This record gives sequence, C-alpha cells and structure tokens, in this order.
Amino acid sequence: MELHITPTAEQVLTDLADYFVAQAGRAIAARGRFVVALSGGNSPRKLYKLLASPAYREKVAWPQVFFFFGDERNVPATDAESNYRMANEALLEPLGIAAAQVFAVHTTLPPAAAAAAYTRTIQGFFGAEEACFDLALLGLGDNSHTASLFPHTPVLHDASVGAREVLLADKNVFRITLTAPLLNQARAVAFLVYGEDKAAAVRHVLHDARDVDEFPAQLIAPTGETHWFLDQAAASLLPKH
Ligand code: 6PG
Repeated sequence: MELHITPTAEQVLTDLADYFVAQAGRAIAARGRFVVALSGGNSPRKLYKLLASPAYREKVAWPQVFFFFGDERNVPATDAESNYRMANEALLEPLGIAAAQVFAVHTTLPPAAAAAAYTRTIQGFFGAEEACFDLALLGLGDNSHTASLFPHTPVLHDASVGAREVLLADKNVFRITLTAPLLNQARAVAFLVYGEDKAAAVRHVLHDARDVDEFPAQLIAPTGETHWFLDQAAASLLPKH
C-alpha cells in the first residue's frame, strides 16, 4: 500500500490525475484497453473535471477506456444524487465518451434486480476472463464506508464477485455496490480522500485494529496495488512516520 500525502486537496487531485494517466497508458499498452470503476459522491467530481480539462484530456486514449461504477444510488440517472449523472456531467460528456464505453447501473429496475443485472453486465464484459478492473477509484465516508459497503450491512460478508443491493436502514434507501471480492480483484485501487472531516475515518481504516463491520474500507485489499491519495488534513490523525 502506498500513501500519497500532499498539503492541499488540489495537489491530491493532480497527483491522482497523473496516476490515472499512467495507469491508463500501462493498461492500454499491455491489453489495448483501460477498464475503470468510477467512484461517486462529491470528492471525485473535481478529479473528473480535471481529467476532462485541456491539461489532461489529451493524455489518455479515451476511446480505449471503459467505465463502470463502484456503486450507485437507487435513483434515476437524471437525479442530482446519481453517481452516473455526476460522472457524465464532469467527465463522460465533456470527453465525448461513446455510450458503448459506459456501463451504468440500471436503476430503473428494483434494487435486487438492478444489482443482478449489473453483475451480468460485468460478467458479460469480461467474458471467460476473471472480472478485473485496471483501476477502481474509491472514496471514503466519514463512517469508514467505501463504495456502498456501509457499516453493519450484510454485503460486507458477501463472498460473491459482483454487485449487490444494500439497504441503508437509517435513511430507508437502497444503493447498488460492487462487492469487496470484486473490488479486490482489481489490478489497482486508488482512494481519493481529502478534508479534515475524513481524518478519523482514515485513521480507523489505516491504523486501528481490524473491524470490518465498523470500518468497511478495511475490506479493500486488492491483489494489485493500493494507493491512498490524501491531503494533509485527511491524514492528520495518522501516526507521524
Ligand atoms: C457514494 C460513494 C461513496 C463516497 C463516500 C465519500 O456513492 O457516495 O461512492 O462511497 O465515495 O461516501 O463521499 P464524498 O466524496 O461525497 O465525501
């Protein structure tokens, strides 16, 4: 695991954008494509806008990039809460990404059916090969969740390699999430976490004793590389090394 700690959030975004470009170049050179699972929420919006900006857009062979989603809210694709909508507005549409390169969750289906359909979509894409994202981008909630692997939810102990529905009982809403075993098949995982409000969660996940029900992001231990892109505020409770 590699920590990339920089003074400001802007520098974290640039670091991660550079890493994304490098990973894309390596994957496309090796296998002719770069398969990425996008994270949702607010943090990655700035990253996506940076990748679509003149400073970065020419650095990636976008027609060879294929986009999946690490998780999705159970809302229409036009909803302000939709991770697809956020990524489409910040990255996919500005880059002119073809629909055939984007695999979104069908949230028009009931949650369990949407998760099963997404599992089939992923299996169909990878075919006989093991489902393996070249890069899974992940965020971290202040309660130590990642994707939609929330504390004390059954999905944390789901050994399946696919997508699952998750009921957030406190809000009585569903999410669809990739399972930890699928995320852990990735060649690389990159967490993007910035802001002081995440400092406690970063310490829980990276430093405290293992307790995946309390700190679900501890489940993420891919066979490939794990990178944490943090600003100093988010890393502020880590032991000084
Ligand atoms: C989501 C995300 C989720 C997110 C964290 C952090 O759908 O919300 O996938 O796992 O990464 O909740 O969210 P923020 O970046 O908005 O703090």
